[in-house]
Amino acid sequence: MQDARTLEPVGAPFHTGVRIPGDKSLSHRAVIFAAIADGPSEITGLAPGRDVASSMAAVAELGAGMSGTRLVPPERLQRPPGPIDCGNSGTTMRLLAGALSGASMTTTLTGDESLRSRPMRRLVAPLGALGSRVTTGPDGTAPLVIEGGGLIGADVAIDVASAQVRTAFELAAIQAEGPSTIRSPRGYRDHTERWLETFGLASTEEGERTRITPGRIPAAAYTIPGDPSSAAYLWASAALLEGAEVVTPGVSLNPGRLGFLGILEGMGADVDGEVTGTIHGDPIGTVSVTGRSLQGVEVSGATVAAAIDELPLVAVLGAYAEGVTIVRDAAELRAKETDRIVSTTAMIRALGGGAEATEDGFAVVGTGFLPGGTVDAMGDHRIAMAAAVAATTADGPVTILGASAADVSWPSIYDTLEAVWSSR
Ligand code: S3P
Repeated sequence: MQDARTLEPVGAPFHTGVRIPGDKSLSHRAVIFAAIADGPSEITGLAPGRDVASSMAAVAELGAGMSGTRLVPPERLQRPPGPIDCGNSGTTMRLLAGALSGASMTTTLTGDESLRSRPMRRLVAPLGALGSRVTTGPDGTAPLVIEGGGLIGADVAIDVASAQVRTAFELAAIQAEGPSTIRSPRGYRDHTERWLETFGLASTEEGERTRITPGRIPAAAYTIPGDPSSAAYLWASAALLEGAEVVTPGVSLNPGRLGFLGILEGMGADVDGEVTGTIHGDPIGTVSVTGRSLQGVEVSGATVAAAIDELPLVAVLGAYAEGVTIVRDAAELRAKETDRIVSTTAMIRALGGGAEATEDGFAVVGTGFLPGGTVDAMGDHRIAMAAAVAATTADGPVTILGASAADVSWPSIYDTLEAVWSSR
């Protein structure tokens, strides 16, 4: 029996401010940066959930000591007792592959069934150019074996706008003998580049090639801002209900995370954003979203990378909008925790809407309503959470089978949604 959770549609517009849990992308980075740093780091506001716990457990196996907010790196990464289990977390696996490329030892990275079906071959050429020997299984998936050490500088270009692959390369390149460069299509979240630039280890020429200078990451203090990919569930819920409003202070406003806000605005929601500060060169701020009537939208190009984790929510909004919503250039969705072209369209159909998968995205028919129904999360946290948001203005309840999939990024999201929905 799968665990299930049922959410009832919301009665009246809500108005509230919500502190969003720590950003997952930045939490993985803080933990892994700190594990190879020059001295102890302080990390506050780490993301809840199993994914970041996977990164913490992994660096502990490599010799890092974490007590409270303090992470003490080993002098050099230590050989773990066996394969490192990255759980469901692709970010843990890919970022560690980069960090471990600088270590003179052989390490194996593995994960759960979903993670063991995701593409890892994309790491082999960029890390290989630096001299790291990375091998995957015959179909390009984990377990990954990394024989690191003896890295040289290299110039590489990758053909996906993947922040994870870029970060893996950059974490290896800082441990190489000479300078390196990387370029990729745009739209990626450039958290790593900004942090490395603050530490004097990277520079990027006008969004083009990023140059990496070898050196140690210094001991540092990381205050993790709220996760815009989590806030997106609340923004979407407010957008669905005319007159509802949600305000989220202290979230990451990295340009590579803002695609969804642009889409929301394009669909007709009222979106306000204000930068209130930066953390190691990476902007944070307050976002408020107010619901208005929604129109269908077309999403393509660099916006796709900047909204990649929010595209299941775009489908939900599209179902409630007027007109058709089309997402293209998004074949990367097939490489996520599930094939999200399949799981997103299945979710909309399970709720009584019309959605078709295409090769590189999907189309959703905006009928202005969804009857509600039962959605199988398929083990994917973002499908479980998007289905929960669909309950906002559904005609009937929404039941999520396998609701605890949300535990990898936001274990308390259902309670938060219900609290938000009852605030006036
Ligand atoms: C992430 C980058 C994105 C995103 C993932 C987190 C990161 O993946 O989908 O949830 O923290 O760098 P890709 O880099 O594979 O596009």
